[in-house]
Amino acid sequence: MAGLVAAVWIAGHPAARAGDLNSSSGDVQFTNHPAGASLTTGRALFLKNCAHCHGADARGDEGPDLHGLDISDQGIVSRIRQGKAGEMTAFAGKLQPSEINMLVAYLRSLKP
Ligand code: HEC
Repeated sequence: MAGLVAAVWIAGHPAARAGDLNSSSGDVQFTNHPAGASLTTGRALFLKNCAHCHGADARGDEGPDLHGLDISDQGIVSRIRQGKAGEMTAFAGKLQPSEINMLVAYLRSLKP
């Protein structure tokens, strides 16, 4: 039960700054580095939304291996939000900014 409370508490934080990620300027910021419970949620989000292209272990399938990414947090946020035409789904309208933050944290936890 304590774990659940922690997950809700941490998950609530990025949402409080959601305005940044929703700005139409495209100047989105990844400002939160959650740990623990949020990584579990990030992994669940990954399995649901990303695994069918990147593999359940994120080692790559149709999409590339996502371990040890060479792009900035900001770059990951932009890629998730915008996708890539003909290659990757855009998730801006499908995932909440707090969920995108948790996905970034999860991807950052994957060591090469
Ligand atoms: C429809 C298949 C598909 C889905 C779904 C998908 N991706 Fe991708 N993704 C790709 C492909 C293909 C690329 C490589 C595109 C390119 O040529 O840059 C990619 C690239 C990326 C990159 C950039 C990798 C790099 O080294 O620059 C990241 C980060 C990424 N995906 C994360 C995600 C996340 C997180 C999700 C789930 C929210 C997701 N992707 C869902 C197919 C997908």
